[in-house]
Amino acid sequence: MKKALTNRELFFLAKNRIKNENKNISDNEIYLILEYVNNYQNYTEIVLNFDKICENCRLFENLLEKLISGKPIQYLLNEAQFLNFSLYVDENVLIPRPETEGLVLKTISYIKNLKLNHQNIVDVCTGSGAIVISLKNEFKNAEVFATDIHKECINVARKNSEKFDLKINFLLGDKVEPLKSLNDKFDILISNPPYVENADDIEEKVKNYEPYDAVFIKDGTEFYESYFKNYKEIMNDEFFMAFEINYDQEEKLTELIKKYFDKNIRYKFEKDIYNLNRYLFILSGYEDRSF
Ligand SMILES: C[S@@+](CC[C@H](N)C(=O)[O-])C[C@H]1O[C@@H](n2cnc3c(N)ncnc32)[C@H](O)[C@@H]1O
Repeated sequence: MKKALTNRELFFLAKNRIKNENKNISDNEIYLILEYVNNYQNYTEIVLNFDKICENCRLFENLLEKLISGKPIQYLLNEAQFLNFSLYVDENVLIPRPETEGLVLKTISYIKNLKLNHQNIVDVCTGSGAIVISLKNEFKNAEVFATDIHKECINVARKNSEKFDLKINFLLGDKVEPLKSLNDKFDILISNPPYVENADDIEEKVKNYEPYDAVFIKDGTEFYESYFKNYKEIMNDEFFMAFEINYDQEEKLTELIKKYFDKNIRYKFEKDIYNLNRYLFILSGYEDRSF
């Protein structure tokens, strides 16, 4: 591309190139790159300045190249949208997904509608911190913890908690291990752990760019089993657990629930926006509330 082109010229050059190369990249992604390289705050500024010379054509070209080669836009711009939050992300963390927004919204509804205790909340496998940040923002008085096995993920999640000025306690370690040495037990445990066994279920883009052990695992129910097995050590008598799960795990997870919990435990599988079984909620106690 020539230097000193307008935003409009760059937009249409990019659009033609994407069409010629038959890539699945939306206009919105091109707009986001224009917004970024010009340092605009929003889409309106692009519209207002569409016929102005782009501030940094070289950077635009560079980012477009990477986008065309398959790199997710969120990693290119170090930004991912999750509910009302614009989170910092890099290649150390999974890009938070719309399904997980569903998990958070459903969990908030259960906590409010059933009037569940939520003094102590933990998000296991926090990644970018998307879940824990949304919950702490909603329940400002709760004491909130988040864990991950990777220091790099904790660093990203911490950076996001600072961005939104939310006090969260971060712990490094395997699954619920770091929770066992705490003085307090939890009312709410939420987790979106790695659960995909079959790489054929996953897009190339994810396999090529997102952290492998955030997504894949040999035994897709391993994390849930470890939470169930350890629940007496980490949870209060009355508790609520909320999980994102894979669409084909209901049978195996039901067996594990029966194996590890008391008979009076209540649980529910729920579907995501694509009508796939995607969530598991478990309630202990609260016998006076219908679930
Ligand atoms: C599916 S990602 C979820 C990230 C984030 N909670 C979200 O929903 O976007 C799973 C996360 O689990 C972390 N993880 C992988 N193995 C772990 C382990 N053994 N213990 C704790 N966290 C682990 C990964 O680093 C990754 O951040």
